[in-house]
Amino acid sequence: MLITRSVKALRKHLADWKQQAESIALVPTMGNLHDGHLSLVRAAKEQATRTVVSIFVNPLQFAPNEDFASYPRTFAEDIDKLRQYQVDAVFAPDVGEMYPDNEISSTYIDVPGLSDCLEGEYRPGFFRGVATVVNKLFNMVQPDIAFFGEKDYQQLLVIRKMVKDLNIPVEIQSVATVRETDGLAMSSRNQYLQPVQRMQSGIIYQAMQTVRDQVMQGANFTDIEQQMIQQLTQQGFVVDYLTLREPVSLQKPDCTDSLNYLEKAGSKVCNSLIILAAVRLGTTRLIDNLRFSLKPVDR
Ligand code: PAJ
Repeated sequence: MLITRSVKALRKHLADWKQQAESIALVPTMGNLHDGHLSLVRAAKEQATRTVVSIFVNPLQFAPNEDFASYPRTFAEDIDKLRQYQVDAVFAPDVGEMYPDNEISSTYIDVPGLSDCLEGEYRPGFFRGVATVVNKLFNMVQPDIAFFGEKDYQQLLVIRKMVKDLNIPVEIQSVATVRETDGLAMSSRNQYLQPVQRMQSGIIYQAMQTVRDQVMQGANFTDIEQQMIQQLTQQGFVVDYLTLREPVSLQKPDCTDSLNYLEKAGSKVCNSLIILAAVRLGTTRLIDNLRFSLKPVDR
């Protein structure tokens, strides 16, 4: 397994592989690898002959008040895990290799619209940082295919849009969210939770499931959102948002309930909805989502 911090060394290996007509998969990460990341690695290994995993905690996507300095860095453990998966290359540049002229003055990519709502509202500049570094990684690795988790649903949409708008020759594949047994989505930030908070955190998934079930039974969208936000708040969560959205545009559905939604959508348009949530427990901020289909109604 090649382990390198240098773009030049990485490119040399990639050139050899490409000459041998190998297909290249990229799995971008910020390290501190858990089973969520590893499911992306598994999917990559199945679909390409060479898999590159990048590990880079990207300063451009952290605001000054966020956890860039304390973000868990566990390089040796990450390497052990990736060796077990027989990954071909680990690319782990330092900040100077990624941003030789300083990240503050780098050329950047904005994906307007999709980047402005939800996470973009609470974390200004976040998607600019993500889109810019992912674009740089695509240019460095030139993968045929790249893998992203549905856990970060808005990020996935932003990257797909960037790839489409800029004609980047890479296929984007998404991988389902991997959860703990109580439903909490795996995340490097889960380890910030105190034991009591960790016990409470399974409620987030339960709340989203309740919203889904109630919507399927015809509940009013706004009422059920408000009810769940109130319940989570009573249990000690600070809810940044818990909201039903149309899964392609991330806009609020212009409807009161599922019957209304399906009537407006007609048979041509997608009939699914997504619940997106961002909540805080103490100083830890967690995001999750749940997408579901509405069955066509018999009339
Ligand atoms: P990071 O949080 O390390 O996540 C790397 C990839 O793993 C992302 O595509 C993310 O969606 C996926 N992932 C994380 N937890 C997951 C889970 N429980 N189930 C499935 N997939 C999961 O996301 C980033 O890093 C960065 O923003 C990055 C794209 C690397 C750009 O810096």
